[in-house]
This record gives sequence, C-alpha cells and structure tokens, in this order.
Amino acid sequence: MEAREAAWQVLPKHLAIIMDGNGRWAKERGLTRSQGHRAGAENVYPIVSECRRLGIAYLTLYAFSSENWQRPKPEIQVLFSLLSDFLRRFLPQLEQEQIRLHTLGDLTALPLTQQLALQHAMQVTAKNQAMTLNLAINYGGRMEIVNAVKSIMAQGLTADAVTEQVLAEHLYTKGQPDPDFLIRTSGEQRLSNYLLFQCAYSELYFTSAFWPDFDVAALHEALHEFARRQRRFGKIEDSKQAE
Ligand code: IPE
Ligand code: IPE
Ligand code: MG
Repeated sequence: MEAREAAWQVLPKHLAIIMDGNGRWAKERGLTRSQGHRAGAENVYPIVSECRRLGIAYLTLYAFSSENWQRPKPEIQVLFSLLSDFLRRFLPQLEQEQIRLHTLGDLTALPLTQQLALQHAMQVTAKNQAMTLNLAINYGGRMEIVNAVKSIMAQGLTADAVTEQVLAEHLYTKGQPDPDFLIRTSGEQRLSNYLLFQCAYSELYFTSAFWPDFDVAALHEALHEFARRQRRFGKIEDSKQAE
C-alpha cells in the first residue's frame, strides 16, 4: 500500500466527480431507482473520507443538476430526503475530519428543510481546513456564468476591467483552484453542464462503473491514471527541445 501511495506524487488539488449511474445500477439488480439512489448515497462518505485521507484539498460532487428538476417529483423527493439523511449522519464526521462544507448552485429553489440543513452544516464546518467538500446542488454551469456576468455588470465594471480572473471570482468556486481532474462514472462521456468554466483544462476520466460501485479501489485506479497523464497547457512537452 505504501509503495503504491508513494507513486501518487501528483495528486489532484481539486477533484470533481459526476456521480452518475444510480438508476442503471438499480435496474441491473431489479431494484427501484430510489434504491439505486440510496446505494449511491451510501457510497458518498467513504469516497469523501478517502480523498481527505490522501490529501486532496478540494472535492466537488455533482449531487443535483439544474436539469434534474425534469425528473418525476417522487424521485426528486427521494434525492432531497437522502441529502437530509446524509447531512444528519455525517455532519459529526465532517467536523471530526476537519472538512469544510460548501455548496455550488442556487439553493433558494430547494425545499426549506434542506436549505436550512445545508446552511447549518456550512456554518458549523466553516473553519475546517483539512479539505473543502463542494456539493453541487441545483447547479448548472451555464447559469453560473450568466449569473457571474450579471453580478459583474451590477458592480458597474468597465469592459476593460473584466478578465478571466474577475469572472472566476464571481463563480461559486471563488477562491478555489480549478479542478485538475474530473471523473464521471456510468460510462457517459459528457459534462452535463458541470463546471464549464472551471474545467477548461481538467483531465477527464470516464469509467463504466456505476456510482454505487465506484469504491475506494476504483478511486485509486483513477488517481493513478491522473498521475500518469502529461499536462501540457498548450506548451510543448519539453522546453529544452524548443527549436
Ligand atoms: C445519478 O444517477 C444521480 C443523479 C443524477 C441525481 P442517475 O439517476 O442519473 O442514474 P442513471 O444515469 O439513470 O443510471
Ligand atoms: C448529471 O447526471 C447530474 C448528476 C450526476 C447530479 P445526469 O444523469 O442528470 O446527466 P445526463 O442527463 O445523463 O446528461
Ligand atoms: Mg444519469
């Protein structure tokens, strides 16, 4: 284990995950979609905890997209009730592990119970420094950018003053590094409106595992793959060859 971990000299600072495939996981087993979401929710904390143990500073989880309102109401209710359960069960653990909770998305559209539970959890964990856990809830990347532009305009900034940095400071991830690694489970290979501005240069990793099956071993496999990636950011591989 130790030797393998030594190979993780290049850990992402910010890992983003699209937790997809709960429905298909359930279907494969003849279970209901709700049971799939329950299994998916059970998988969240072990992954959070392992990321913190490894020293990943920021973890962003896509829990509910702005498009997910188009699902049947009972399914949406199950998802929000699982969010409440999660906060109730794991708030003490977030505290114990010194994890700060933050949210990305428009919380005002959420049921009041969940809004209050999230606000409470954010307040309680605000000073924690070991890791930031971002939950993307009622989140949409395009809307986030539109809102950033609105807020920049409301401040009366001139066109010249608008830079990439200024825009980044008006996003929900203000002050955080961009995700350097994005994992999507379930075999789908798309962003589904996730972190469109922030993932401009992220390494992308798609696995066919459904979210409830994406365990610590699967996370390790993904992180090893990240460590093997060559990131170039538009430059050539070796600047000594520059001729
Ligand atoms: C991800 O699983 C959970 C959310 C989107 C909230 P899905 O519910 O999308 O599962 P599939 O994609 O139908 O299998
Ligand atoms: C993306 O998954 C959103 C979350 C995981 C919360 P979806 O299942 O909603 O995405 P699409 O519809 O397949 O693009
Ligand atoms: Mg899906």
